[in-house]
Amino acid sequence: MSESKTSESKIQGQLIGSVNGLEEGGKGLRFDVQNVEGETVPAFVVNFDYQYFAYLNKCGHIAVQLDYMPGEFFGDDGQTLICATHGAEYAPDTGACLGGPCYGVGLEPLTIAEQDGQLFLMHQGYSVVASN
Ligand code: FES
Repeated sequence: MSESKTSESKIQGQLIGSVNGLEEGGKGLRFDVQNVEGETVPAFVVNFDYQYFAYLNKCGHIAVQLDYMPGEFFGDDGQTLICATHGAEYAPDTGACLGGPCYGVGLEPLTIAEQDGQLFLMHQGYSVVASN
């Protein structure tokens, strides 16, 4: 039997998790990555404008995680990612600092890809440790 068109070429990446539950402008998916130094670093994926974007979960102001409640990255309007500590705002599609105390320092993006409802990390220098 033939398979769907999207599964003809499999992505060569590390599985982060499913897109299920990742609603546009809604709660993000948290996961951990390991960098080349062997450090475990928190990261997350959000759905913005029906595309998926991943970043290290580290504010440009102080190296703390953005979400006060796990997975809550978006502001009320669903248009910006907001650090819960002092309110720095970031563009969901680029990670750029838009305002607040990030002072031009954006989020560090991670390259990901989606295939058949699964998200994969494609970023050199990081490996997926766990989803949480
Ligand atoms: S630690 Fe994120 S805005 Fe200050």
